This record gives sequence, structure tokens and C-alpha cells, in this order.
Amino acid sequence: MKFFIDTANLDQIKEAQALGVLDGVTTNPSLMAKEGIKGEENILKHYADICNIVDGDVSAEVISTDFAGMVKEGEALAALHPQIVIKLPMIADGVKACKYFSDKGIKTNVTLVFSAGQALLAAKAGATYMSPFIGRLDDISSDGLHLISEIRHIYNNYGFETEILAASVRHTMHIIDCAKIGADVMTGPLSAIKGLLKHPLTESGLAQFLADYNKGN
Ligand code: G3P
Repeated sequence: MKFFIDTANLDQIKEAQALGVLDGVTTNPSLMAKEGIKGEENILKHYADICNIVDGDVSAEVISTDFAGMVKEGEALAALHPQIVIKLPMIADGVKACKYFSDKGIKTNVTLVFSAGQALLAAKAGATYMSPFIGRLDDISSDGLHLISEIRHIYNNYGFETEILAASVRHTMHIIDCAKIGADVMTGPLSAIKGLLKHPLTESGLAQFLADYNKGN
């Protein structure tokens, strides 16, 4: 299972990278705005800065909603750095743009996926990654993890190579449940990744080992 961090915050990306378990980064326009990154030039520079911190794929989202605009923006983003993955919305023009980029061998991430049907379309269009938003489904009393199971089943039926990128992960149990189901990738906040470290028996066990060592020295 690949671990992506879902943020545009460089300090958090550096911390996750330093932990040694980071496989990539996902961003979106809201996450960029949260860091105060505005204007095309600053946004492109920020993507380049992220690529220089991590070794893996970095999803950069287009803001156009028409095919021609997505192609223009996506080509500029792809030219920025070899690690950039073009993030496209799950709308008709996004599906067309996904097919366009996948035919050219450029990596894509189809985002804002909320149903198995949308996931099937993304795979048919040759998406590298397809991002179902599990937290946002949970927010409206729908079962985000059930959607991941459905998509896993469908992709396995046909051997689709599109990777299921569980997105809108909010907490540590989302990561564990996605791993049980077999999501290929999860993207979430640093807090959810660090939550995997925690166990009171690890903490008390280490404290005891250190106390015993100090008694004998
Ligand atoms: O990866 C998608 C993500 O950025 C959305 O997360 O927490 O805003 O639903 P959230």
C-alpha cells in the first residue's frame, strides 16, 4: 500500500518524507489556498518545491472544466517536473482529458469520485490513479469504505490497472480499513499517518526497558 500525504504544507511533507514511509503527495486547490499559495506562478513554483522534497508522484490539479483548458493546463503541469501527475475532475471533459493524457503516457489522477460507476469510467479512460473521497461520503451518512470495497471488486473482475487512491482519509482507522480492503494507495493528513505509530503498550514497554537499563548502569 502506498502512502501519500494530502497537503500542500511543506513542513508536513518534509516530516512525512523524513519518516521514510512517504510514496507521494496529493494536493488540491483548497489545500493550496490553505497555505496561502495564490497565482499561477507561485502555484507552479510550489509544485516544483514539493517535487524536490519527495521521491514519488505529486498530484497537481487543473482548475479548467473544459477539455481544451484541461489539456493546456495539464501539459504545462506535466512539463514542470517528471513526478507531476495531472489531477482531473470526474466530469465528462475530465474523462476525455484523462484518455488524452493516458494515451500520451502522462500520469493522471481522476478526482472527486463518489460512485462505483464513476470509478469504472476512470479506469476505462486509463487513469493511473482514481480517487474516491471516503471521508466526504461518511460526512453525509454514506459508507465511504463500502465504496472502496465495491471498486476493488470491480477492478479485480477485469484486471484494471488503475490504482485505487483512497482520498479524503480523515483518521488512522480509515487507513487500516483501506489496507484490509486492498486500496492501492491512501492519501491523508500527517496526523492519520502518525496515528499508526501509537500504542500504549509500546510506550510503557519502552519506558520499562529504559528504566531497567538505567538500573544496571
Ligand atoms: O484527497 C482529497 C482531499 O483533499 C479531500 O479531503 O478532508 O477535504 O474531504 P477532505
